[in-house]
Amino acid sequence: RLPNFVQLKEVGPRDGLQNEKKWISTADKIAWINMLSESGVKEIEFTSFVNPKMIPALSDAREVGKQIKREPGVLYSALVPNMKGLEFALDAGIDAASVFMSASETHNQKNINKTIDATYPVLDKVIREAKQAGKLVTGYVSTVFDCPYEGKINPDQVLRVCENLFASGVDDLSLGDTIGTAVPTQVEQLLEVLMKHYPKEKLILHFHDTRGMAIANIMTAMHYGINRFDSTVGGLGGCPYAPGAAGNVATNDVLYLLHGLGIETGIEEKKIQDAGLFIQSKLGKILPSRSLAYFANA
Ligand code: HMG
Ligand code: MG
Repeated sequence: RLPNFVQLKEVGPRDGLQNEKKWISTADKIAWINMLSESGVKEIEFTSFVNPKMIPALSDAREVGKQIKREPGVLYSALVPNMKGLEFALDAGIDAASVFMSASETHNQKNINKTIDATYPVLDKVIREAKQAGKLVTGYVSTVFDCPYEGKINPDQVLRVCENLFASGVDDLSLGDTIGTAVPTQVEQLLEVLMKHYPKEKLILHFHDTRGMAIANIMTAMHYGINRFDSTVGGLGGCPYAPGAAGNVATNDVLYLLHGLGIETGIEEKKIQDAGLFIQSKLGKILPSRSLAYFANA
């Protein structure tokens, strides 16, 4: 029943770094992304083209995009909130744009400064222009289980946002457990609703691992046939506009699970561990991944 192959999107250079206070130099970001490019991962979200005052850690987005080495077969994506971001992102050479909004009204406003209804036309234009430019577009929906401001989010509320983003032309959707609260029954309830409307190939799950539930949630989603997940090297990450959001599920830990189950990913674990040690040393702190810690001490 489990998938034979799982596709991981490495979002460390974006979700992983966006919340870090310590400035990682442009040269170190590029060196790190180049290491990730050589790991066998098929998609890397390498930065965000957002207001640099809101996410100072990624204010060198354009330089990074222009200088990273492009590995054939790897899709390079970036977060894009509006037309200004799309213009910069196209100039920096994205293959795919990731637009984003929230299923909860309050988180949407804190994160992107608009109501949900006011967000749709902005993203609609970005999605259409990006498609016109021949790019893939993923739509992130945040707070699909719980919102740090509003509590539980009803799956029907998530469905409404998904319907709007698909109507604008996104290729697929990444569903965010932004603050890492979900347990497997919540994953089941949401997938039961969404999979009545969309094929599983269109759905990606994006777990933060605040409470250590992400691996259990990934296992649950795989039993529903989902085989695309977002993760970060070392378990870096968090959203500065979602209090309580810890890092994403660690690529290192997901790989240990998947390869142990005999599921292929095309990714070399050792290269991900090395990339984890590299960024850990640049940040000067121990990252949360258990499997990285084991590797470092072995
Ligand atoms: P706004 O304030 O409504 O926009 O922000 P604005 O058009 O009024 O512009 C304000 C200023 O930002 C202006 O500069 C613009 O030029 C500038 P000023 O005149 O003050 O000097 N600006 C930009 N600069 C560069 N690139 C741009 C851009 N746009 C405006 N693209 C906006 C609206 C959405 C831009 C803002 O709220 C923003 O940047 N938000 C980003 C927040 C963010 O990045 N959050 C984290 C990512 S989401 C996440 O982590 C969740 C996810 O991982 C899934 C999950 O875990 O659930 C995806
Ligand atoms: Mg996230």
